[in-house]
Amino acid sequence: MAQLIPVDTFDLIIFGGTGDLAMRKLLPALYHRDRDGQVTADSRIIAASRGALTRDKYLAMVKKSLQKGLPKGEFDAAHWKSFKDRIHYVQADALAHANWGRLSKLLAGHEERVRVAYLATAPSLFGPIATGLKSNGLITTNSRIVLEKPVGRDYESACEINNAVGECFSENQIYRIDHYLGKETVQNLLALRFANSLFEPLWRRGAIDHVQITVAEDLGVGGRIEFYDRVGALRDMVQNHILQLVCLFAMEPPSSLDHDAVRDEKIKVLRALKPMSVDEVRSSSVRGQYTAGAINSNTVPGYIDELGGDSSTTETFVALKLEIENWRWSNVPFYLRTGKRLSGKLSEIVVQFQDVPHSIFPEQKYNVTPNLLRIRLQPDEGVQLSVMAKEPGPGGFDLRPVSLDLSFAETFGVGYPDAYERLLMEVLRGNPALFMRRDEVEAAWNWIDGIIEGWETSKQKVESYVAGSWGPPASSLLLDRDDRAWYSDDKT
Ligand code: BG6
Repeated sequence: MAQLIPVDTFDLIIFGGTGDLAMRKLLPALYHRDRDGQVTADSRIIAASRGALTRDKYLAMVKKSLQKGLPKGEFDAAHWKSFKDRIHYVQADALAHANWGRLSKLLAGHEERVRVAYLATAPSLFGPIATGLKSNGLITTNSRIVLEKPVGRDYESACEINNAVGECFSENQIYRIDHYLGKETVQNLLALRFANSLFEPLWRRGAIDHVQITVAEDLGVGGRIEFYDRVGALRDMVQNHILQLVCLFAMEPPSSLDHDAVRDEKIKVLRALKPMSVDEVRSSSVRGQYTAGAINSNTVPGYIDELGGDSSTTETFVALKLEIENWRWSNVPFYLRTGKRLSGKLSEIVVQFQDVPHSIFPEQKYNVTPNLLRIRLQPDEGVQLSVMAKEPGPGGFDLRPVSLDLSFAETFGVGYPDAYERLLMEVLRGNPALFMRRDEVEAAWNWIDGIIEGWETSKQKVESYVAGSWGPPASSLLLDRDDRAWYSDDKT
Protein backbone atom coordinates (compact mmCIF):
# COMPACT_ATOMS: atom_id res chain seq x y z
CA MET A 1 0.00 0.00 0.00
CA ALA A 2 1.30 3.46 -0.87
CA GLN A 3 2.37 5.90 1.81
CA LEU A 4 -0.21 7.81 3.80
CA ILE A 5 1.02 11.38 4.22
CA PRO A 6 -1.09 13.31 6.77
CA VAL A 7 -2.30 16.75 5.80
CA ASP A 8 -2.23 19.92 7.89
CA THR A 9 -5.30 20.99 9.80
CA PHE A 10 -7.83 22.53 7.41
CA ASP A 11 -11.19 24.18 6.97
CA LEU A 12 -12.74 22.93 3.75
CA ILE A 13 -15.78 24.89 2.63
CA ILE A 14 -17.88 23.10 0.03
CA PHE A 15 -20.07 25.51 -1.93
CA GLY A 16 -22.85 23.42 -3.43
CA GLY A 17 -22.72 21.35 -0.25
CA THR A 18 -26.11 19.73 -0.82
CA GLY A 19 -25.44 18.93 -4.48
CA ASP A 20 -24.77 15.69 -6.29
CA LEU A 21 -20.98 16.07 -6.42
CA ALA A 22 -20.68 16.81 -2.71
CA MET A 23 -22.89 13.88 -1.77
CA ARG A 24 -21.64 11.32 -4.27
CA LYS A 25 -17.95 12.11 -4.44
CA LEU A 26 -16.53 14.70 -2.03
CA LEU A 27 -18.00 13.55 1.26
CA PRO A 28 -17.33 9.84 0.62
CA ALA A 29 -13.74 10.73 -0.36
CA LEU A 30 -13.28 12.72 2.86
CA TYR A 31 -14.90 9.92 4.87
CA HIS A 32 -12.32 7.46 3.52
CA ARG A 33 -9.33 9.73 4.15
CA ASP A 34 -10.60 10.43 7.64
CA ARG A 35 -11.15 6.74 8.36
CA ASP A 36 -7.57 6.03 7.30
CA GLY A 37 -6.28 8.62 9.75
CA GLN A 38 -5.06 11.19 7.22
CA VAL A 39 -7.10 14.05 8.63
CA THR A 40 -6.14 15.87 11.84
CA ALA A 41 -8.58 15.96 14.74
CA ASP A 42 -9.44 19.66 14.40
CA SER A 43 -10.05 19.79 10.66
CA ARG A 44 -13.52 20.85 9.59
CA ILE A 45 -15.79 20.39 6.59
CA ILE A 46 -18.16 23.30 6.14
CA ALA A 47 -20.97 22.74 3.68
CA ALA A 48 -22.42 25.95 2.26
CA SER A 49 -25.58 26.19 0.25
CA ARG A 50 -28.58 28.40 -0.43
CA GLY A 51 -31.08 26.32 1.53
CA ALA A 52 -32.11 27.04 5.13
CA LEU A 53 -31.15 23.69 6.64
CA THR A 54 -30.32 22.90 10.22
CA ARG A 55 -27.04 21.13 10.88
CA ASP A 56 -28.95 18.04 12.00
CA LYS A 57 -30.95 17.93 8.81
CA TYR A 58 -27.80 18.26 6.74
CA LEU A 59 -26.05 15.51 8.72
CA ALA A 60 -29.02 13.23 8.14
CA MET A 61 -28.68 13.88 4.39
CA VAL A 62 -24.97 13.08 4.44
CA LYS A 63 -25.47 9.95 6.49
CA LYS A 64 -28.11 8.67 4.14
CA SER A 65 -26.02 9.31 1.08
CA LEU A 66 -22.92 7.67 2.61
CA GLN A 67 -24.94 4.63 3.60
CA LYS A 68 -26.27 4.39 0.08
CA GLY A 69 -23.14 5.33 -1.83
CA LEU A 70 -20.24 3.70 0.02
CA PRO A 71 -19.30 0.19 -1.03
CA LYS A 72 -21.13 -2.47 0.94
CA GLY A 73 -19.93 -2.80 4.53
CA GLU A 74 -17.89 0.42 4.51
CA PHE A 75 -20.27 2.63 6.42
CA ASP A 76 -19.21 2.28 10.01
CA ALA A 77 -21.54 3.67 12.69
CA ALA A 78 -18.67 4.24 15.14
CA HIS A 79 -16.62 6.14 12.60
CA TRP A 80 -19.61 8.16 11.45
CA LYS A 81 -19.91 9.48 15.01
CA SER A 82 -16.51 11.14 14.86
CA PHE A 83 -16.71 12.08 11.17
CA LYS A 84 -20.01 13.93 11.60
CA ASP A 85 -18.50 16.13 14.29
CA ARG A 86 -16.30 17.70 11.63
CA ILE A 87 -19.23 18.65 9.45
CA HIS A 88 -20.94 22.03 9.70
CA TYR A 89 -23.63 23.56 7.56
CA VAL A 90 -24.06 27.24 6.72
CA GLN A 91 -26.59 28.99 4.56
CA ALA A 92 -24.74 31.17 2.07
CA ASP A 93 -26.24 32.36 -1.18
CA ALA A 94 -23.48 32.67 -3.77
CA LEU A 95 -25.05 35.87 -5.07
CA ALA A 96 -25.86 37.57 -1.75
CA HIS A 97 -22.50 38.17 -0.13
CA ALA A 98 -23.84 40.38 2.59
CA ASN A 99 -25.50 37.31 4.10
CA TRP A 100 -22.37 35.30 4.67
CA GLY A 101 -22.25 36.20 8.37
CA ARG A 102 -22.48 32.63 9.66
CA LEU A 103 -19.68 31.50 7.42
CA SER A 104 -17.44 34.41 8.48
CA LYS A 105 -18.19 33.71 12.13
CA LEU A 106 -17.34 30.04 11.77
CA LEU A 107 -14.03 30.82 10.08
CA ALA A 108 -13.00 33.66 12.41
CA GLY A 109 -10.01 32.86 14.56
CA HIS A 110 -8.84 30.02 12.30
CA GLU A 111 -6.84 32.07 9.83
CA GLU A 112 -3.67 30.04 10.33
CA ARG A 113 -5.26 26.86 8.97
CA VAL A 114 -5.24 25.71 5.40
CA ARG A 115 -8.51 27.11 4.07
CA VAL A 116 -9.99 25.58 0.94
CA ALA A 117 -13.10 26.79 -0.86
CA TYR A 118 -14.35 23.97 -3.09
CA LEU A 119 -16.77 25.30 -5.71
CA ALA A 120 -19.01 22.33 -6.55
CA THR A 121 -21.44 24.69 -8.27
CA ALA A 122 -22.33 25.86 -11.75
CA PRO A 123 -19.37 27.65 -13.39
CA SER A 124 -21.42 30.85 -13.60
CA LEU A 125 -21.08 31.09 -9.80
CA PHE A 126 -17.28 30.74 -9.68
CA GLY A 127 -16.66 34.46 -10.13
CA PRO A 128 -19.38 35.59 -7.68
CA ILE A 129 -18.24 33.15 -4.97
CA ALA A 130 -14.59 34.18 -5.31
CA THR A 131 -15.69 37.81 -5.05
CA GLY A 132 -17.83 36.99 -2.00
CA LEU A 133 -14.87 35.38 -0.27
CA LYS A 134 -12.80 38.45 -0.99
CA SER A 135 -15.38 41.04 0.01
CA ASN A 136 -16.05 39.21 3.27
CA GLY A 137 -12.32 39.15 4.04
CA LEU A 138 -12.23 35.36 4.02
CA ILE A 139 -9.15 34.86 1.84
CA THR A 140 -6.04 34.19 3.90
CA THR A 141 -2.47 33.57 2.76
CA ASN A 142 -3.21 29.88 3.34
CA SER A 143 -6.33 29.88 1.16
CA ARG A 144 -6.94 27.86 -1.98
CA ILE A 145 -9.91 27.70 -4.29
CA VAL A 146 -10.99 24.60 -6.23
CA LEU A 147 -12.98 24.95 -9.45
CA GLU A 148 -14.89 21.93 -10.71
CA LYS A 149 -14.99 21.33 -14.41
CA PRO A 150 -16.29 22.60 -16.74
CA VAL A 151 -14.62 25.99 -16.36
CA GLY A 152 -16.94 27.85 -18.71
CA ARG A 153 -18.64 26.64 -21.88
CA ASP A 154 -16.24 28.15 -24.42
CA TYR A 155 -12.98 30.08 -24.60
CA GLU A 156 -14.57 33.42 -23.88
CA SER A 157 -16.53 32.35 -20.82
CA ALA A 158 -13.51 30.43 -19.50
CA CYS A 159 -11.41 33.61 -19.76
CA GLU A 160 -14.12 35.60 -17.98
CA ILE A 161 -14.22 33.09 -15.12
CA ASN A 162 -10.45 32.91 -14.92
CA ASN A 163 -10.25 36.71 -14.84
CA ALA A 164 -12.92 37.02 -12.14
CA VAL A 165 -11.37 34.36 -9.92
CA GLY A 166 -7.91 35.73 -10.71
CA GLU A 167 -8.94 39.13 -9.26
CA CYS A 168 -9.30 37.45 -5.88
CA PHE A 169 -6.81 34.54 -5.87
CA SER A 170 -3.34 34.22 -7.35
CA GLU A 171 -2.87 31.48 -9.97
CA ASN A 172 -0.97 29.25 -7.52
CA GLN A 173 -3.99 29.32 -5.19
CA ILE A 174 -6.38 28.14 -7.94
CA TYR A 175 -6.95 24.40 -8.42
CA ARG A 176 -8.95 23.49 -11.53
CA ILE A 177 -10.08 19.91 -11.15
CA ASP A 178 -10.22 17.31 -13.84
CA HIS A 179 -10.87 14.16 -11.86
CA TYR A 180 -9.30 11.97 -14.55
CA LEU A 181 -5.93 13.31 -13.44
CA GLY A 182 -6.59 11.83 -10.00
CA LYS A 183 -7.21 8.35 -11.35
CA GLU A 184 -4.46 5.87 -10.48
CA THR A 185 -4.38 4.44 -13.97
CA VAL A 186 -4.06 7.88 -15.56
CA GLN A 187 -1.06 8.59 -13.34
CA ASN A 188 0.24 5.20 -14.32
CA LEU A 189 0.52 6.52 -17.83
CA LEU A 190 3.32 8.73 -16.51
CA ALA A 191 4.95 5.69 -14.91
CA LEU A 192 4.63 3.64 -18.08
CA ARG A 193 6.19 6.32 -20.21
CA PHE A 194 8.81 7.81 -17.93
CA ALA A 195 9.79 5.01 -15.56
CA ASN A 196 10.56 2.62 -18.43
CA SER A 197 13.10 3.21 -21.15
CA LEU A 198 11.52 0.57 -23.36
CA PHE A 199 8.71 2.63 -24.83
CA GLU A 200 10.27 6.03 -25.40
CA PRO A 201 12.12 5.21 -28.66
CA LEU A 202 8.85 3.82 -30.04
CA TRP A 203 6.61 6.62 -28.81
CA ARG A 204 6.49 8.56 -32.07
CA ARG A 205 5.72 8.69 -35.74
CA GLY A 206 7.58 6.06 -37.68
CA ALA A 207 6.85 3.47 -34.98
CA ILE A 208 3.22 4.19 -34.14
CA ASP A 209 0.57 3.92 -36.83
CA HIS A 210 -2.26 5.53 -34.87
CA VAL A 211 -3.76 5.90 -31.40
CA GLN A 212 -7.34 5.27 -30.26
CA ILE A 213 -8.85 6.63 -27.07
CA THR A 214 -12.24 5.33 -25.97
CA VAL A 215 -14.08 6.56 -22.88
CA ALA A 216 -17.37 4.68 -22.96
CA GLU A 217 -20.13 4.65 -20.38
CA ASP A 218 -23.15 2.40 -20.18
CA LEU A 219 -25.01 4.82 -17.92
CA GLY A 220 -27.28 7.49 -19.33
CA VAL A 221 -27.40 11.08 -18.11
CA GLY A 222 -29.67 10.26 -15.18
CA GLY A 223 -30.56 13.09 -12.83
CA ARG A 224 -28.19 15.56 -14.52
CA ILE A 225 -30.16 15.78 -17.71
CA GLU A 226 -30.99 19.47 -17.47
CA PHE A 227 -27.35 20.37 -17.01
CA TYR A 228 -26.24 17.85 -19.61
CA ASP A 229 -28.63 19.07 -22.25
CA ARG A 230 -26.93 22.46 -22.13
CA VAL A 231 -23.47 20.91 -22.31
CA GLY A 232 -23.22 17.71 -24.38
CA ALA A 233 -20.44 15.15 -24.68
CA LEU A 234 -17.88 17.39 -26.38
CA ARG A 235 -17.86 19.93 -23.56
CA ASP A 236 -18.50 17.39 -20.79
CA MET A 237 -15.82 14.83 -21.66
CA VAL A 238 -13.58 15.82 -24.57
CA GLN A 239 -12.62 19.38 -23.59
CA ASN A 240 -11.23 18.11 -20.31
CA HIS A 241 -10.83 14.38 -19.58
CA ILE A 242 -10.00 13.17 -23.07
CA LEU A 243 -7.73 16.06 -24.00
CA GLN A 244 -5.88 15.56 -20.71
CA LEU A 245 -5.34 11.91 -21.68
CA VAL A 246 -4.05 13.06 -25.07
CA CYS A 247 -1.65 15.45 -23.32
CA LEU A 248 -0.23 12.85 -20.94
CA PHE A 249 0.10 10.38 -23.77
CA ALA A 250 1.67 12.73 -26.29
CA MET A 251 3.71 15.23 -24.27
CA GLU A 252 7.50 15.38 -24.30
CA PRO A 253 9.21 14.01 -21.18
CA PRO A 254 9.12 16.74 -18.51
CA SER A 255 12.38 17.44 -16.71
CA SER A 256 10.79 16.57 -13.35
CA LEU A 257 7.43 15.90 -11.75
CA ASP A 258 7.33 19.50 -10.63
CA HIS A 259 3.85 20.86 -11.33
CA ASP A 260 4.92 23.48 -13.83
CA ALA A 261 7.36 21.13 -15.58
CA VAL A 262 4.51 18.73 -16.33
CA ARG A 263 2.01 21.43 -17.21
CA ASP A 264 4.51 23.21 -19.47
CA GLU A 265 4.72 20.04 -21.54
CA LYS A 266 0.96 19.48 -21.60
CA ILE A 267 0.24 22.97 -22.86
CA LYS A 268 2.61 22.42 -25.80
CA VAL A 269 0.45 19.49 -26.92
CA LEU A 270 -2.75 21.52 -26.63
CA ARG A 271 -1.21 24.32 -28.66
CA ALA A 272 -0.10 21.83 -31.32
CA LEU A 273 -3.60 20.41 -31.90
CA LYS A 274 -4.40 21.06 -35.53
CA PRO A 275 -7.32 23.48 -35.78
CA MET A 276 -10.09 22.14 -37.99
CA SER A 277 -11.81 24.01 -40.81
CA VAL A 278 -15.58 23.64 -41.18
CA ASP A 279 -15.03 20.98 -43.87
CA GLU A 280 -12.54 19.11 -41.69
CA VAL A 281 -14.96 19.18 -38.78
CA ARG A 282 -17.59 17.65 -41.02
CA SER A 283 -15.31 14.89 -42.23
CA SER A 284 -13.45 14.24 -38.96
CA SER A 285 -16.17 14.35 -36.32
CA VAL A 286 -19.34 12.45 -35.52
CA ARG A 287 -22.11 13.55 -33.19
CA GLY A 288 -24.57 11.04 -31.85
CA GLN A 289 -27.56 10.73 -29.55
CA TYR A 290 -28.94 7.51 -28.08
CA THR A 291 -32.38 6.12 -28.74
CA ALA A 292 -34.09 3.45 -26.64
CA GLY A 293 -32.32 0.11 -26.49
CA ALA A 294 -31.05 -2.56 -24.13
CA ILE A 295 -27.96 -2.72 -21.94
CA ASN A 296 -27.14 -5.97 -20.15
CA SER A 297 -30.59 -7.21 -21.13
CA ASN A 298 -32.31 -4.24 -19.46
CA THR A 299 -34.32 -1.98 -21.70
CA VAL A 300 -33.46 1.69 -21.34
CA PRO A 301 -35.24 4.78 -22.69
CA GLY A 302 -33.82 7.08 -25.31
CA TYR A 303 -32.30 10.48 -24.51
CA ILE A 304 -35.32 12.45 -25.69
CA ASP A 305 -37.64 10.36 -23.52
CA GLU A 306 -35.40 10.95 -20.51
CA LEU A 307 -35.39 14.65 -21.28
CA GLY A 308 -39.15 14.63 -21.50
CA GLY A 309 -39.00 16.94 -24.50
CA ASP A 310 -39.80 16.74 -28.18
CA SER A 311 -36.35 17.15 -29.55
CA SER A 312 -32.80 18.13 -28.67
CA THR A 313 -29.64 18.45 -30.71
CA THR A 314 -27.34 17.77 -27.75
CA GLU A 315 -24.82 15.05 -28.51
CA THR A 316 -24.42 12.17 -26.06
CA PHE A 317 -21.69 10.67 -28.24
CA VAL A 318 -18.78 12.18 -30.07
CA ALA A 319 -16.02 10.68 -32.17
CA LEU A 320 -13.14 12.72 -33.58
CA LYS A 321 -9.98 12.32 -35.53
CA LEU A 322 -7.34 14.73 -34.36
CA GLU A 323 -3.83 15.53 -35.40
CA ILE A 324 -0.96 16.94 -33.41
CA GLU A 325 1.27 19.18 -35.45
CA ASN A 326 4.75 18.61 -34.13
CA TRP A 327 7.81 16.53 -35.00
CA ARG A 328 6.88 13.60 -32.80
CA TRP A 329 3.30 13.15 -33.95
CA SER A 330 3.00 14.58 -37.42
CA ASN A 331 0.65 12.39 -39.52
CA VAL A 332 -0.17 10.02 -36.65
CA PRO A 333 -3.96 10.19 -36.27
CA PHE A 334 -5.52 10.11 -32.82
CA TYR A 335 -9.08 8.77 -32.90
CA LEU A 336 -11.15 9.73 -29.87
CA ARG A 337 -14.65 8.75 -28.88
CA THR A 338 -16.85 8.98 -25.85
CA GLY A 339 -20.52 8.41 -25.22
CA LYS A 340 -23.30 7.58 -22.84
CA ARG A 341 -25.40 4.42 -23.01
CA LEU A 342 -22.80 2.53 -24.99
CA SER A 343 -22.27 -1.18 -24.83
CA GLY A 344 -20.30 -1.07 -21.57
CA LYS A 345 -18.16 1.04 -19.24
CA LEU A 346 -14.69 1.03 -20.66
CA SER A 347 -11.85 3.55 -20.89
CA GLU A 348 -8.74 2.61 -22.74
CA ILE A 349 -5.98 3.86 -24.97
CA VAL A 350 -4.99 1.54 -27.79
CA VAL A 351 -1.74 2.12 -29.62
CA GLN A 352 -1.32 0.41 -32.95
CA PHE A 353 2.30 0.10 -34.01
CA GLN A 354 3.43 0.05 -37.64
CA ASP A 355 3.26 -3.05 -39.79
CA VAL A 356 6.49 -4.98 -40.20
CA PRO A 357 8.31 -3.37 -43.15
CA HIS A 358 8.70 -6.66 -44.97
CA SER A 359 7.18 -10.01 -44.11
CA ILE A 360 9.43 -13.06 -44.35
CA PHE A 361 6.35 -15.23 -43.91
CA PRO A 362 4.87 -14.80 -47.37
CA GLU A 363 2.18 -17.45 -47.08
CA GLN A 364 1.27 -15.92 -43.72
CA LYS A 365 1.30 -12.35 -44.83
CA TYR A 366 -2.33 -11.77 -43.98
CA ASN A 367 -1.84 -13.18 -40.50
CA VAL A 368 0.92 -10.83 -39.38
CA THR A 369 -1.05 -8.23 -37.49
CA PRO A 370 0.50 -5.08 -36.04
CA ASN A 371 1.53 -5.00 -32.39
CA LEU A 372 -0.95 -3.36 -30.09
CA LEU A 373 -0.44 -1.75 -26.72
CA ARG A 374 -3.66 -1.41 -24.76
CA ILE A 375 -3.59 0.80 -21.73
CA ARG A 376 -6.74 -0.08 -19.81
CA LEU A 377 -7.79 2.80 -17.60
CA GLN A 378 -11.01 1.29 -16.25
CA PRO A 379 -12.31 -1.24 -15.42
CA ASP A 380 -9.90 -4.18 -15.29
CA GLU A 381 -7.00 -1.74 -15.07
CA GLY A 382 -3.75 -2.83 -16.65
CA VAL A 383 -1.56 -2.94 -19.71
CA GLN A 384 -1.62 -5.48 -22.49
CA LEU A 385 0.90 -5.85 -25.27
CA SER A 386 0.07 -8.10 -28.17
CA VAL A 387 2.95 -9.70 -30.05
CA MET A 388 3.01 -12.19 -32.89
CA ALA A 389 4.02 -15.74 -31.98
CA LYS A 390 4.32 -19.03 -33.79
CA GLU A 391 1.72 -21.58 -32.93
CA PRO A 392 3.35 -24.80 -31.80
CA GLY A 393 3.29 -27.52 -34.46
CA PRO A 394 5.60 -29.88 -36.35
CA GLY A 395 5.07 -28.29 -39.75
CA GLY A 396 4.20 -24.94 -41.31
CA PHE A 397 4.62 -21.59 -39.67
CA ASP A 398 1.30 -20.52 -38.28
CA LEU A 399 1.34 -17.16 -36.59
CA ARG A 400 -1.08 -15.60 -34.20
CA PRO A 401 -1.12 -12.58 -31.87
CA VAL A 402 -0.72 -13.40 -28.19
CA SER A 403 -0.91 -11.04 -25.22
CA LEU A 404 1.52 -10.08 -22.51
CA ASP A 405 -1.02 -9.11 -19.93
CA LEU A 406 -0.39 -7.05 -16.81
CA SER A 407 -3.36 -6.71 -14.51
CA PHE A 408 -2.81 -4.07 -11.84
CA ALA A 409 -5.41 -5.65 -9.55
CA GLU A 410 -3.65 -9.02 -9.65
CA THR A 411 -0.20 -7.51 -9.32
CA PHE A 412 -0.83 -5.00 -6.56
CA GLY A 413 -3.80 -6.72 -4.97
CA VAL A 414 -5.37 -3.50 -3.70
CA GLY A 415 -8.44 -1.56 -4.73
CA TYR A 416 -7.99 1.92 -6.14
CA PRO A 417 -8.99 4.96 -4.09
CA ASP A 418 -11.46 7.22 -5.82
CA ALA A 419 -9.77 10.01 -7.81
CA TYR A 420 -11.29 12.65 -5.53
CA GLU A 421 -9.51 11.22 -2.49
CA ARG A 422 -6.17 11.82 -4.11
CA LEU A 423 -7.11 15.22 -5.51
CA LEU A 424 -8.56 16.57 -2.26
CA MET A 425 -5.40 15.56 -0.40
CA GLU A 426 -3.25 17.24 -3.08
CA VAL A 427 -5.18 20.50 -2.68
CA LEU A 428 -4.76 20.34 1.08
CA ARG A 429 -1.03 19.69 0.66
CA GLY A 430 -0.73 22.56 -1.79
CA ASN A 431 0.45 20.51 -4.75
CA PRO A 432 -1.13 21.69 -8.02
CA ALA A 433 0.60 19.15 -10.32
CA LEU A 434 -2.61 17.19 -10.93
CA PHE A 435 -4.70 20.27 -11.67
CA MET A 436 -5.16 22.29 -14.83
CA ARG A 437 -3.43 25.60 -15.19
CA ARG A 438 -5.28 28.55 -16.64
CA ASP A 439 -3.48 28.39 -19.98
CA GLU A 440 -4.32 24.68 -20.39
CA VAL A 441 -8.03 25.22 -19.86
CA GLU A 442 -8.08 28.13 -22.27
CA ALA A 443 -6.05 26.33 -24.95
CA ALA A 444 -8.35 23.31 -24.72
CA TRP A 445 -11.42 25.53 -25.17
CA ASN A 446 -9.79 27.32 -28.04
CA TRP A 447 -9.52 24.05 -29.96
CA ILE A 448 -12.96 22.81 -28.92
CA ASP A 449 -14.56 26.12 -29.97
CA GLY A 450 -13.42 25.42 -33.54
CA ILE A 451 -15.34 22.14 -33.54
CA ILE A 452 -18.47 23.71 -32.06
CA GLU A 453 -18.28 26.47 -34.63
CA GLY A 454 -17.90 23.89 -37.42
CA TRP A 455 -20.95 21.98 -36.16
CA GLU A 456 -22.99 25.17 -35.98
CA THR A 457 -21.92 26.51 -39.35
CA SER A 458 -22.54 23.30 -41.24
CA LYS A 459 -25.54 22.37 -39.08
CA GLN A 460 -23.92 18.99 -38.61
CA LYS A 461 -26.49 16.32 -37.95
CA VAL A 462 -26.72 14.46 -34.65
CA GLU A 463 -26.87 10.81 -35.68
CA SER A 464 -28.97 8.33 -33.72
CA TYR A 465 -27.52 5.24 -32.12
CA VAL A 466 -29.30 2.52 -30.25
CA ALA A 467 -28.52 2.38 -26.53
CA GLY A 468 -26.24 -0.60 -25.93
CA SER A 469 -24.39 -0.22 -29.23
CA TRP A 470 -20.98 1.38 -29.86
CA GLY A 471 -22.38 4.60 -31.24
CA PRO A 472 -23.66 5.64 -34.66
CA PRO A 473 -22.43 3.78 -37.75
CA ALA A 474 -20.67 6.98 -38.83
CA SER A 475 -18.22 6.45 -35.98
CA SER A 476 -17.03 3.16 -37.49
CA LEU A 477 -16.95 4.79 -40.92
CA LEU A 478 -14.61 7.48 -39.58
CA LEU A 479 -11.95 4.80 -39.16
CA ASP A 480 -13.10 2.59 -41.99
CA ARG A 481 -12.28 5.39 -44.42
CA ASP A 482 -8.67 5.17 -43.24
CA ASP A 483 -8.74 1.37 -43.43
CA ARG A 484 -8.85 1.03 -39.67
CA ALA A 485 -11.38 -0.09 -37.05
CA TRP A 486 -12.09 0.59 -33.38
CA TYR A 487 -10.37 -2.06 -31.31
CA SER A 488 -12.48 -1.75 -28.19
CA ASP A 489 -15.75 -2.83 -29.78
CA ASP A 490 -15.06 -6.49 -29.12
CA LYS A 491 -14.02 -5.92 -25.52
CA THR A 492 -17.16 -5.83 -23.43
C1 BG6 B 1 -17.75 13.60 -15.42
C2 BG6 B 1 -18.81 13.87 -16.45
O1 BG6 B 1 -16.78 14.60 -15.45
O2 BG6 B 1 -17.14 12.35 -15.68
C3 BG6 B 1 -19.84 12.75 -16.43
O3 BG6 B 1 -19.43 15.10 -16.17
C4 BG6 B 1 -19.17 11.39 -16.59
O4 BG6 B 1 -20.81 12.95 -17.45
C5 BG6 B 1 -18.03 11.24 -15.61
O5 BG6 B 1 -20.15 10.40 -16.37
C6 BG6 B 1 -17.24 9.99 -15.91
O6 BG6 B 1 -16.31 9.78 -14.89
P1 BG6 B 1 -15.79 8.32 -14.52
O7 BG6 B 1 -14.83 8.57 -13.41
O8 BG6 B 1 -16.98 7.52 -14.12
O9 BG6 B 1 -15.14 7.80 -15.75
